[in-house]
Amino acid sequence: MSTTFITGGTVVSATGRGAADVLVDGERIVALLEPGTTVLGSDLAATADTVIDATGKYVIPGGIDAHTHMSMPFGGTNASDTFETGTRAAAWGGTTTIVDFAVQKFGERLEDSLATWHAMAGGECAVDYAFHQIVGDVNSASLSAIRGLQDEGITSFKMFMAYPGVFYSDDAQILQAMQVSADTGLLTMMHAENGPAIDVLVQQLLAQGKTDPYYHGIARAWQLEEEATHRAIMLAQLTGAPLYVVHVSAKQAVAQLAAARDQGQNVYGETCPQYLYLSLEDQLGAPGFEGAKWVCSTPLRSKHEHHQDEVWQALRTNDLQMVSTDHCPFCMKGQKDMGIGDFSKIPNGIGSVEHRMDLMYQGVVSGKITLERWVEITSTTPARMFGMYGRKGVLAPGADADIVVYDPNGHTSIGLEKTHHMNLDYSAWEGFEIDGHVDTVLSRGKVIVDDGQYLGRKGDGRFVHRALSQYLI
Ligand code: URP
Ligand code: ZN
Ligand code: ZN
Ligand code: ZN
Repeated sequence: MSTTFITGGTVVSATGRGAADVLVDGERIVALLEPGTTVLGSDLAATADTVIDATGKYVIPGGIDAHTHMSMPFGGTNASDTFETGTRAAAWGGTTTIVDFAVQKFGERLEDSLATWHAMAGGECAVDYAFHQIVGDVNSASLSAIRGLQDEGITSFKMFMAYPGVFYSDDAQILQAMQVSADTGLLTMMHAENGPAIDVLVQQLLAQGKTDPYYHGIARAWQLEEEATHRAIMLAQLTGAPLYVVHVSAKQAVAQLAAARDQGQNVYGETCPQYLYLSLEDQLGAPGFEGAKWVCSTPLRSKHEHHQDEVWQALRTNDLQMVSTDHCPFCMKGQKDMGIGDFSKIPNGIGSVEHRMDLMYQGVVSGKITLERWVEITSTTPARMFGMYGRKGVLAPGADADIVVYDPNGHTSIGLEKTHHMNLDYSAWEGFEIDGHVDTVLSRGKVIVDDGQYLGRKGDGRFVHRALSQYLI
């Protein structure tokens, strides 16, 4: 086994920061040491197989992106990043674990969908990966299959109140699945938008000739996110299911979550970088068909309604607990362009898996969140929320040596396909200038990124068998 010594840096956790050296033996962290500590008289910087100088830099637990969709089937095509390309891009950006969604299609056995996802990801990933289960067909067979998920290391499942005829579940189905969630302790994840109402508005807008990407955001009004969020919370309260609402964008949905949490309910929410930085007017409303780059659901919200400020605040006050990307990239050419002349045919999703750590670090730079909170919302809470804490989400003896050396004085320009590593012919983040730089990334002790060089291999990443959430009371 080889040893790695990361010296001179400031180790940052969810609860504090301090000067410390990190000693790695093989795949695990074995010690956090006071700088200058010698072991049996010898200087570790002289004896370790690999020494990484982190002077002036932050040493943080590797990022955990708990919401990705590699190769996700959507709207007649598949998300353009495979497990190979998407996890490599994640590594470049300092994310060392992803949690992807196994998709049960209508009419398919739940167990078969999970087997399909294992076949897609196995041997392909650059970093460790876990799965949530999407339940796209709630029936007696799938309800009983949900009970077997924990044995498979899958402790959360997602349902959709949106996309009628595709992934949609009605209230009766949601109620029954939530009863199983309450019974088993598996976390219910919800895409909370009122899909049937959205579909009526979509048809009305198209009939009026309003076909541009902008109208995707008009049809998916905040009222329909607030309403669905409230309904999900009420069904969760009735059944006792723990609830995690994905990709929250509307300040009114945040208020629903905050109110339920104030009542003591086990209700949680994530947001995504796009809802913190991008808007209905500036991106979705870009001239011509350009706005298609930012078609995702929930949609980007109006800058005039100040959703972004409220979502940032919720992240600071823990009304929202964490940030995932909802990485679901589609190329403009051959994928997004299926919706020219009809915004409802634009496949939904944005690619950000490579940029989440950098984008959220800008919250530290601008004073919206602390350095510790940055680590918490990007790594520690995702680990706890999804039953990986201890192995992941923390730098401590015994933890996997998933480590990022982050240079606060470095700089990252986010640009076109030429500069990012996602399999995507554009960037939703083009032109973003980042204060900070992911310098070195270790995945279970192996250096996979080192100042501009990729040293990993596909197949380095292993499946993470998750426990029940460590965040619930
Ligand atoms: O636009 C999105 N979010 N695409 C991915 C599917 C989903 O709803 O998470
Ligand atoms: Zn969703
Ligand atoms: Zn998603
Ligand atoms: Zn650098």
